[in-house]
Amino acid sequence: MSDNNRVIIFDTTLRDGEQSPGASMTRDEKLRIARQLEKMRVDVIEAGFAIASQGDFEAVKAIADTVRNSTICSLSRALDKDIDRAGEALRNANSGRIHTFIATSPIHMKYKLQMQPDQVVEQAVKAVARARNLMDDVEFSLEDASRSEFDFMCRIIEQVIDAGARTINIPDTVGYAVPQEFAATIARLIANIPNADKAIFSVHCHNDLGLAVANSLAAVSAGARQVECTVNGLGERAGNASLEEVVMAIRTRHDTLGVTTNIDSTQIVPASKLVSSVTGFPVQPNKAIVGANAFAHESGIHQDGMLKHRETYEIMTAESVGWHANRMVMGKHSGRNAFRTRLEELGTSVASEAELNDAFARFKDLADKKHEIFDEDLMALVSDTRASA
Ligand code: KIV
Ligand code: ZN
Repeated sequence: MSDNNRVIIFDTTLRDGEQSPGASMTRDEKLRIARQLEKMRVDVIEAGFAIASQGDFEAVKAIADTVRNSTICSLSRALDKDIDRAGEALRNANSGRIHTFIATSPIHMKYKLQMQPDQVVEQAVKAVARARNLMDDVEFSLEDASRSEFDFMCRIIEQVIDAGARTINIPDTVGYAVPQEFAATIARLIANIPNADKAIFSVHCHNDLGLAVANSLAAVSAGARQVECTVNGLGERAGNASLEEVVMAIRTRHDTLGVTTNIDSTQIVPASKLVSSVTGFPVQPNKAIVGANAFAHESGIHQDGMLKHRETYEIMTAESVGWHANRMVMGKHSGRNAFRTRLEELGTSVASEAELNDAFARFKDLADKKHEIFDEDLMALVSDTRASA
C-alpha cells in the first residue's frame, strides 16, 4: 500500500457477520454478497473460515475462484490444519490472504488456551511462517488484544512480523475499548515495535458498548491503516464496526481525519439491502446511512430548511450512499412549504392560496390520525378540497 493516507477496508460480513446467531448463509448467497462487495470496491473480503465446515470451505473457494478485484481472505486458527485448509480454499485467488490468529490476553491464555505466554508466541510464529510458505499475504491477529498486556503484545508482534506477517490486526474482541485509550495503545504499539514499519496495523472492533465505529476511527487517527468491519454492523453479539458508518465518516470528515478509502459509496445501500434480505436481519429505520429514515425529514422546520438549502439538515447526500432521493415524510410535523412542494411534485398543485390553506388544514387533520401520509392520501385530499370548493 503506497498511499499512506488510504485506509484499507477489510469486510468480514461473510465471516464475523455470519457468526451472528441466525445469520448463516449458503455458498450461493455468500457469492452474491461477495460480488456486491467487489462492486463496492472493498479491498479485502474475508470470505469465511475454511476449516469450520465443508460448506464454508466451498464458499471461500467459490469466492476465491470468482472474485478478481478484491483480495480474498480466509480465517484460520494458528494451527497447521487450519492454515493448510485456508491455503487450499484460496489456491485460485487472484490475490489471496491467510488470516491467522491466537488469543493473547491473560484470561484467554489461562482459561481458554491453557497455554503459557511463551508457548503462545511460539505457536503464533510457527503459524505465520507456515502461512507465508503458502501465500505472500499473511495477516496475524492478537485475539482479545484490548485486554492483553502491552509488553507481551510488543513481543509477539515483533516476532510475527519477522516471521512474515504483513498485516497486524489488533482486535477489540469483546468491545471493551474506549476511543482515547484504544488510540493510545495503537500509537504506542507502532512507536515501540522496532519493525512496525514492515506491517500495516489494522483494527477489528466489536460493538458491545456501541463504540466500535468510534474506536475504529480513533485507531485510524493513531496510525491504523486497515479497518475490519461489516455491512449493517452485523457480527458476533452486538456486532462489528459498521462498514457504511466507517466509510462515510472517513469521507464526510476528511477535513479532520485526513484519510480516504477506495469504496464506491453509491454501492452501500444496495449492499445493505442485499445483506439484510439474505440474512433476514432487518435494518432498524433510524440506522445511520442505511436506515429507511436516515435521509427522511419530517418536522416542518427541517423540511422548510431542506427546501431552502439541502445542507441545512444533511451532511451527505442520500444519492452518495445509493439512495435514489431523500425522503420528505409527510406527517403531522410537516409544514406548508413542504406540503405545497410535494403537491407540485405530484402534479396536483392547488389553484389558489385559499385552496392551499383548505387542503393544508385537511392534511393536518388527517396527519393527527395517521402515522405517515402517503402520496395517494395527498391526491385524495386535494380532490376532496376541490369538490367541496
Ligand atoms: O473478534 C475477534 O477477535 C475476531 C478475530 C478472529 C479477528 O474476530
Ligand atoms: Zn470479531
